[in-house]
Amino acid sequence: MPDLRALKQLLEDRGDLVRVEREIDPRFEMPAVMAKLEATGKAYQFESVKGSPFPLVGGFFNRVERFALGLDGSVADAGFGHADMARRVEAAKAAPIAHCTVDSGPAAEVVRQGEDINLLELPVPHFFERDSGPFITAALGIARHPRTGVLNAGFYRTLILGKDICAINASSLSDLRRFYHHAETNGEEMSIALAIGVEPASLFAAACKLPPTISEFDVAGGLKGAPIEMMKARTSDLLVPAGAEFIIEGKVDFSRRIENTLGEYAGQYGPESAPITRVTAITHRHQPLFYAIMAGRNPEHNNIGDIAVYGIKVDIASRLMQLSSSIRRVNVFTEPRLGPMVHIAIAIDKQSDDEPAELLRRAFELPGSIFPLNRITRRIIIVDTDINTDSLEDVEWAIWTRVSHPGKLLLIPGVESWELDRVSIPGRGSLRLGIDATMDMDLRDTLVRPITPGADDIDLADYLSPEALR
Ligand SMILES: Cc1cc2nc3c(=O)[nH]c(=O)nc-3n(C[C@H](O)[C@H](O)[C@H](O)COP(=O)(O)O)c2cc1C
Repeated sequence: MPDLRALKQLLEDRGDLVRVEREIDPRFEMPAVMAKLEATGKAYQFESVKGSPFPLVGGFFNRVERFALGLDGSVADAGFGHADMARRVEAAKAAPIAHCTVDSGPAAEVVRQGEDINLLELPVPHFFERDSGPFITAALGIARHPRTGVLNAGFYRTLILGKDICAINASSLSDLRRFYHHAETNGEEMSIALAIGVEPASLFAAACKLPPTISEFDVAGGLKGAPIEMMKARTSDLLVPAGAEFIIEGKVDFSRRIENTLGEYAGQYGPESAPITRVTAITHRHQPLFYAIMAGRNPEHNNIGDIAVYGIKVDIASRLMQLSSSIRRVNVFTEPRLGPMVHIAIAIDKQSDDEPAELLRRAFELPGSIFPLNRITRRIIIVDTDINTDSLEDVEWAIWTRVSHPGKLLLIPGVESWELDRVSIPGRGSLRLGIDATMDMDLRDTLVRPITPGADDIDLADYLSPEALR
């Protein structure tokens, strides 16, 4: 399994990485170019970022099939998709491999403490016009669980505030938010570290939601098939990835909180509040690569973010399947093109026209393992079994061809959402929508889809040469 540098080389050898040689401004200009490159599916390296001696790399996982490259160092024969990645991640969660401790590693080749600490020389992008400033987006935030002592890691966007001050944001769903709360209410010192440019296994594992007894680094070991090498931090009892490009160590200072805003993955601004962190050391490799994930509704961010919801999607789908024996399939869409909220398609073999409405009501009342279903779900659509629930397009087609009267819509106002539903105002909540997109029983003959008998069994390879199919 490659580390970040080896992965970069693999991408370059395949012609999948472009280098931008000319000097570029990290404020708006670089993110504007990053967004354009994300859309082409290329990974990128900016050689000369104004104000920084370090190059910036990114876009490694803006195509899902590159997850296979990150895991195995090779490209899967057939297209590697989220379903394949979900299987690999679930297998690693079931069989984690404990991390090991090494004396030192490349991440500590250069050590900066005291006056030598300078966050301002990192090539950190300032992404959008209303952002509060430059944000580190691809760092793993590392802290210990206050009760179990287990090393926890996740992505937490980090606002640069000065040479040795930053604000590390923890959302209400994150373990880090609970660690902050514990340390602040108990008046305990809290150490934290940021690791930038870690090996892909650790990157993927950090996106996962795990119980407090399991370290993301051990799931990373499971993904890698070998222990992740960690080394002692310079200024705390934390362990940090020995092979990272940069490590930033610090202590959280709860005496000051910072309101800050960044353009988020679903295409909206997200105001947050975070305590500041005072940096106690920065270590890095010789000639380090600064890895960044393009913020906002862009492919790499959304692909890695999807890893976080694999487990949640399976949980929601299995709970819904149990609601009725008429249900044949459930698909849970977490699709940033539809905003930050979940959309669910349920295919049923209905026995009466009343069944979908009843099912919609019960579905919106479901509890969940982390939070109630309606907290994160905007819309549930019931379709007939001839609709492909894996295809958003087919589900939409059912809505626009099979819904004929308002009785097929269920509107639920005032529902309390999670904070990423930015249209929801505290005290007013936001809207939920249920749609019965099944054919009315008396219209089944009229609305039947045109099908050519035997079409599903046709393989074009039986009719054409491989050259013609290319
Ligand atoms: C690129 C990226 C950026 C993210 N930014 C944040 C963030 O700023 N704050 C946050 O709490 N979660 C963020 N997340 C989600 C968390 O990393 C993810 O939910 C993780 O499981 C949280 O870990 P924890 O529950 O162990 O704290 C981000 C995820 C990705 C992929």
